[in-house]
Amino acid sequence: MNRFLKGLPKVSSRLSLRRPDDWHVHLRDGALLQAVAPATARSFARAIVMPNLNPPITSVAAAVAYGARIRAALPEGSCFSPLLTAYLTDTIEAEEIERGHAEGVFTACKLYPAHATTNAAAGVSDLARIEAVLAAMERIGMPLLIHGEVTDAEIDIFDREAVFIERHLAPLLLRHPALKVVLEHITTAEAVAFVRQAGPNLAATITPHHLHINRNAMFRGGLRPDFYCLPVAKRERHRLALRQAATSGETSFFLGTDSAPHPRSAKESACGCAGIYNAAYALESYAEVFEQEGALDRLEAFASLHGPAFYGFPVNEGTITLVREAHTVPPRLQGNAAGGASTELVPFHAGQVLQWRLADDG
Ligand code: NCD
Ligand code: ZN
Repeated sequence: MNRFLKGLPKVSSRLSLRRPDDWHVHLRDGALLQAVAPATARSFARAIVMPNLNPPITSVAAAVAYGARIRAALPEGSCFSPLLTAYLTDTIEAEEIERGHAEGVFTACKLYPAHATTNAAAGVSDLARIEAVLAAMERIGMPLLIHGEVTDAEIDIFDREAVFIERHLAPLLLRHPALKVVLEHITTAEAVAFVRQAGPNLAATITPHHLHINRNAMFRGGLRPDFYCLPVAKRERHRLALRQAATSGETSFFLGTDSAPHPRSAKESACGCAGIYNAAYALESYAEVFEQEGALDRLEAFASLHGPAFYGFPVNEGTITLVREAHTVPPRLQGNAAGGASTELVPFHAGQVLQWRLADDG
């Protein structure tokens, strides 16, 4: 050992984890799918893929076809498995959901309150309309994944998650105590507290961006569309609560990137789309947070163990390795040539230095 380093605390430079999963990702379709699928498949063994395509995935046949398009977009030899979800609408039939689940096509159902976010216009207008579907899911043990925000225009956008929990989620869990529910991409201290006091049937995913940024990021020196996503980032105290929850080792919090790519032209426009593209450096981004919180030893549980335990899946075989090696995230990702401008993406952390890098050999 270099004698000058003797006596200094040992900073480990490599970290091996059981291969992780992403429990919430948008892979899109067409040229964008081609551009982003390899990044998710590089780090993750499985991912819960959101169904908010246009038109949304509301049938078993549409999901089967989408799964084939995802597999076709993966690099040769990739072992990545997309876990597909059904998009709940006011009129979707419980029978279709049950059949998709029985055939292994649908892993879960996604609830978007109508108009809550990108491609959510066909979402559910009133939970009473999907009562039969929820009862069937509860019976067969199929998880419900919730975009937890009210959509009432008169409710302040920064309060929409907390109001959803109080008005809709709490009563829903009382009506369906055996239903497995994931409150997705949580952004508030209220959500953290609610998940903690609930039983084992409620869990939450946490994104890398909500661990790194608070709402100031959207307004630093001007309007910054790259930091606009839904649910919108909140005050600093909420970010700190999320960091504490993610790194706490509690089993009800696990990894879900909510990587939501939109072409740069659609983000930087008069009415920019909500969504942050973080898949290219997601694990590196989480590792940074866990290191800052002195919790690198808990990253594996958050990224690779708690999710499978909640879903009742085996953990992945194999490992990935993170190396402590500073690198600068490119300001833009060009996507693939075929997509042209339609796949030009600004990655989360664009132009910033990250301390951890995923080893090329996994
Ligand atoms: C997502 C998208 O673009 O599909 N956008 C986002 O800001 N997260 C939808 C969603 O998950 O809300
Ligand atoms: Zn999402």
